Amino acid sequence: MTQTDEKLVPHPHLKQFYEGESQREEFVNRIFDDTASKYDPVNSILSLGSGIRYRKQALIRSGLTSGMDVLDVATGTGLVAAAEISIVGPKGSVTGLDRSYNMLIEVGNKLNIPLIQGDANVLPFANNSFHFLTMGYALRHVDDLKGTFKEYFRVLKPGGILLILELMRPTNKMIYRIVQLYFRLMVALISIPGIGGKNEGRLIKYYWNTIDKFVGSSTIINTLCETGFEEVTSHQKFNFFTTYIAVKP
Ligand SMILES: C[S@@+](CC[C@H](N)C(=O)[O-])C[C@H]1O[C@@H](n2cnc3c(N)ncnc32)[C@H](O)[C@@H]1O
Repeated sequence: MTQTDEKLVPHPHLKQFYEGESQREEFVNRIFDDTASKYDPVNSILSLGSGIRYRKQALIRSGLTSGMDVLDVATGTGLVAAAEISIVGPKGSVTGLDRSYNMLIEVGNKLNIPLIQGDANVLPFANNSFHFLTMGYALRHVDDLKGTFKEYFRVLKPGGILLILELMRPTNKMIYRIVQLYFRLMVALISIPGIGGKNEGRLIKYYWNTIDKFVGSSTIINTLCETGFEEVTSHQKFNFFTTYIAVKP
């Protein structure tokens, strides 16, 4: 294996959640399967303004228009996909893909779109299939950033647009402390049975750890460029919410 073929993990292995790198995939699948039925209410408590409206604005800003064929990777309960359906209209299409079976059950109860169980790293689509590809708040959970971006590049049509919505570790110390405290409070609140539960509290704790240890924006931008994407830009809000946009030439 050459240097450039090596995996690029989005964060180092998190010992308090899974034993070793080989357990990462199983842990991520289990935590999302276990919390899928409460994902929407928990997300609306936690969202800090990154709800459906924020997702829709980001989609429009990055160039999603009527008639496009879209792939939403890590679709979860379909919060990004729902916004996409309203933009692409009947002449376009939205396909959802997720590794968690239980998440797909949830989205299937809400949206009438093709749904596929699969991994961002091995997409079951032909080359040049989509005008637009999205990933909302899941890049921190993939096994390999390089492999994932290669797949995104492959399945996008020439001129196709990639939009990634993510959270970043705040570089401003004051914002970092505020966000850290906010997540601590959210772990306590969401762990309360009735609001969330033990699994949901653990999910929020895991979220904070992945944000805290997440590779920086420059690594993401450089990796997108190395993959062959052009016009790679990132946009930050409150030193925390981040969008990455990239175009396949
Ligand atoms: C925080 S949820 C985000 C859901 C949705 N995109 C949103 O904006 O609300 C993360 C999702 O990523 C999925 N996921 C994690 N790793 C994945 C992978 N390698 N391939 C596909 N889906 C993955 C999880 O199963 C989960 O549904």
